[in-house]
Amino acid sequence: CLWVRGRGQKKSPPGPIPWPLVGNAMQLGQMPHLTFCKMAHIYGNVFKIKLGAHNIVVLNGESTIRQALVKHSTEFAGRPNFPSFKVISGGKTMAFGAYSDLWKAQKKIAHSTLRAFSTVNTETTRLFEQHVAAEAEDLIQVFLRLSSGGEYFDPYHECTVAIANVIFALCFGKRYSHDDLEFKALVGRNDKFGKTVGSGSLVDLLPWLQCFPNPVRSLYQSFKDLNIEFFYFVKDKINQHRETYNPKVTRDMSDAFIGLIDHGEGAGEVLDKEYVEGTVTDLVGAGQDTNSVALTWIILLLIKYPHIQKKLQEEIDNVVGQDRMPTAEDRAQLPYVQAFIYEAMRFSSFVPMTIPHSTTRDVIIEGFHIPRNTIIFVNQWSVNHDVDKWRNPSQFQPERFLDENNQLNKDLIYGVLIFSVGKRRCIGDQLSMLQLFLFTSILLHQCSFHSNPEEQLTMEYITGLTLRPLPFGISVRSRRLHRKQET
Ligand code: HEM
Repeated sequence: CLWVRGRGQKKSPPGPIPWPLVGNAMQLGQMPHLTFCKMAHIYGNVFKIKLGAHNIVVLNGESTIRQALVKHSTEFAGRPNFPSFKVISGGKTMAFGAYSDLWKAQKKIAHSTLRAFSTVNTETTRLFEQHVAAEAEDLIQVFLRLSSGGEYFDPYHECTVAIANVIFALCFGKRYSHDDLEFKALVGRNDKFGKTVGSGSLVDLLPWLQCFPNPVRSLYQSFKDLNIEFFYFVKDKINQHRETYNPKVTRDMSDAFIGLIDHGEGAGEVLDKEYVEGTVTDLVGAGQDTNSVALTWIILLLIKYPHIQKKLQEEIDNVVGQDRMPTAEDRAQLPYVQAFIYEAMRFSSFVPMTIPHSTTRDVIIEGFHIPRNTIIFVNQWSVNHDVDKWRNPSQFQPERFLDENNQLNKDLIYGVLIFSVGKRRCIGDQLSMLQLFLFTSILLHQCSFHSNPEEQLTMEYITGLTLRPLPFGISVRSRRLHRKQET
């Protein structure tokens, strides 16, 4: 049922019939990415839904998404003009901001600074690696302490602290203990943020929900509060940096941004000073929830599949041995560890939809006309679970990424869609892949992970901007101690 407006007129994408007032909101369900996959079966990879008064085009499948976000990258580079996006990062957000020259300048500075403090060359990689290794070792001690009396515990909070500490160390040169109260309060907010910003962001689409008391309205209010608090937390840190700023010594990323934006060539021309705190807030926010959820999935999959855990440990032991820790340089010699991480990303697709996009101009995609300022949802899940692309996509099989020589199949890993593509692609991709590799290999080198025999493990999750596994119990044992006892 194509909605064709008449002879010679532009063809609009098909889609389910909307209800008055709410549109198709009631049809989305708890897991919109799965609903969209079902709708794509009926209407095709480009279809249209309505949420409130807004027309939304949903893109599914690798070739459609690449055609839109890569081939027509400028046309699909916008962000919707949502009220919730305006309260993020003091209104100076790059991740949720409109496509403009200002956005281009901010993204360029953010990307180059992030790389300069992580993966740009071997020297910075080594420094970054030291941060991650220190956090991984600290995390191991906390895990062992929590397991000491044969207890089982949910690892999510501790993973969040460890991951947040890495990005805090890069941005502010400071880390927190796992029990620090200020830090606990800060990192405990990811849930509400993700729930509001995830593609179902109902207050943005149905603004009249703000007019009377309801759960969505109270979520929106706390979303505003947490963003303001978080921004002022970062602003305070940036002010402390400004007071002690010395152009000759760049202590951390905050100093680097102050140097570029406050004092750099053409300073203040495009980006005013508040873009320092805006950009740092974006980076601290973006780097936390994503990677801590990724690490939580990794741990869940290790206990769900003990034979895979064992195989990973064997590979690490063979390549690294007992006398040193795994390092970034080992990555190429550990194809199974890498295959495991890619499969964890594909299988969980823990960022199932990108941040919503919008069109910056009229554009035609797969023969359908999409007008300027249309909201676009990009379904990454549909690519990672496409039955025509992957054999048994619902099964967890790291081996699928290895070729006949047991080396990583580069073409296949390129097909996993988790960091998006095109102009809005994530800038934390390389840093995250290295960070997850280091955490995974160091944890497995030092420890073994065990499920609670009395608990039925599920692969179910809580839906937001990320998909976070439901709480589950683990117990962690030191392999070092075990090896000592064996000798
Ligand atoms: C945007 C995924 C980690 C910074 C995004 C987007 C996705 C994503 C799907 C939206 C792209 C779009 O709208 O098309 C991930 C995943 C991560 C991760 C899966 C970890 C495994 C990080 C880290 C940082 C970061 C560590 C920085 C420290 C950003 C920024 C954007 C972004 C700044 C906005 C880009 C833009 O709007 O142009 N990320 N991310 N991300 N990410 Fe990440």
